[in-house]
Amino acid sequence: MISMWKLYCWKFSILFLSVLALVTSAKNAGNPANEIVDYINKNRTANKLPKLYDSPGLGCMALQYISECMGNCSSNNSLSCHPPEVDITEVYAANCGVELPTVDIISGHLVGCQWKYLNPEQALSEVLIPDEKRLSLLHSKEHTEVGVGFNRAHHGPSFWCILFSSGKTSSTFVLEGGRGIKQRNGCFSGTDLPCSAGRKLLFLADLKPVVFSMLLYLIVGM
Ligand SMILES: *[C@@H]1O[C@H](CO)[C@@H](O)[C@H](O)[C@H]1NC(C)=O
Ligand SMILES: *[C@@H]1O[C@H](CO)[C@@H](O)[C@H](O)[C@H]1NC(C)=O
Ligand SMILES: *[C@@H]1O[C@H](CO)[C@@H](O)[C@H](O)[C@H]1NC(C)=O
Repeated sequence: MISMWKLYCWKFSILFLSVLALVTSAKNAGNPANEIVDYINKNRTANKLPKLYDSPGLGCMALQYISECMGNCSSNNSLSCHPPEVDITEVYAANCGVELPTVDIISGHLVGCQWKYLNPEQALSEVLIPDEKRLSLLHSKEHTEVGVGFNRAHHGPSFWCILFSSGKTSSTFVLEGGRGIKQRNGCFSGTDLPCSAGRKLLFLADLKPVVFSMLLYLIVGM
């Protein structure tokens, strides 16, 4: 009887651990926009420039920018998408639930698309920063904060947008109620919300703990 209970305890702990592994792996692999911000800051600090503050409000606005471009990626991966500049601070901020008086200056933006799957590091170097001109924008001393948006069209290309601002980091692009307005697709930096367009990434990462726990069940003897 006691050994029976021991076995149940074992099985329960394994189940608990695998659920935990599943949740944590989903969190880490779920947001490529955060990874791009990490690479941006690594690149800036390697070039003796200050890190940029990772602003969720700006990130959400970057995701909004992409939503206007989803139909405009050509077969050669060039993006022809030129929404009016004022839309960034007027339309996108409102659609994100950024408190309008906290909207500050946009000191630069970078957008790009690609039909092939790219990891965040490749996306940054191959799509967003392919030349010296855009590298100098990344290295501008004017910027103080950054936000990145990522989205993928269904069976279509991926889109990335980086927004830079020269605003005061602690008081700008504030999201109403801390979270702002929930976005239906894609993901943005500055939050741990997973990416709804990053299913491919998420799914692959999720399989590891599943296989692992299945093996454990076999060993313990289900
Ligand atoms: C890519 O395609 C667009 C239109 O489809 C064209 O205007 C542009 O010149 C092309 N770019 C390159 C690098 O081939
Ligand atoms: C997307 O492409 C269409 C067709 O070329 C163009 O009319 C439209 O303005 C583009 N959208 C943006 C936001 O630039
Ligand atoms: C990072 O900065 C260096 C210049 O120091 C540049 O050559 C490189 O391409 C940058 N990497 C990315 C991913 O932008």
